[in-house]
Amino acid sequence: MGYLPRDVQEAVAEGLNVPLNKVYGVVSFYHHFTVEPKGKYQIAVCNGTACYVKGAPAIISGLEEELGIKAGETTKDGKFSLAAVRCLGACSLAPVMTINQKAYGLMNADKAVDVLKQYE
Ligand code: FES
Repeated sequence: MGYLPRDVQEAVAEGLNVPLNKVYGVVSFYHHFTVEPKGKYQIAVCNGTACYVKGAPAIISGLEEELGIKAGETTKDGKFSLAAVRCLGACSLAPVMTINQKAYGLMNADKAVDVLKQYE
């Protein structure tokens, strides 16, 4: 969801009669849009304040290492995408991550990698 490949951006630019770089500017500004295809399983690690201070950066690093991608990228097989996101509204369970619509609280890097293995 939110994936806007170049040909779609071109169609929008043509339809609105605006330059392609204006469309790209909007797409790249709003985090709901992406120019990269997302994975079948979309992992979002909250990097909001509560999660950050309770170890979100280590979770992101652990998942990056496990998946061989950086936050914002998708694995080559299209299975997983990883994103660092703003507060998910579940700060009492910080650090929090979601995979598609399912939330996992009180995470650490090891637990996050274990959760990931359920999807492999
Ligand atoms: S800061 Fe992570 S859920 Fe609020």
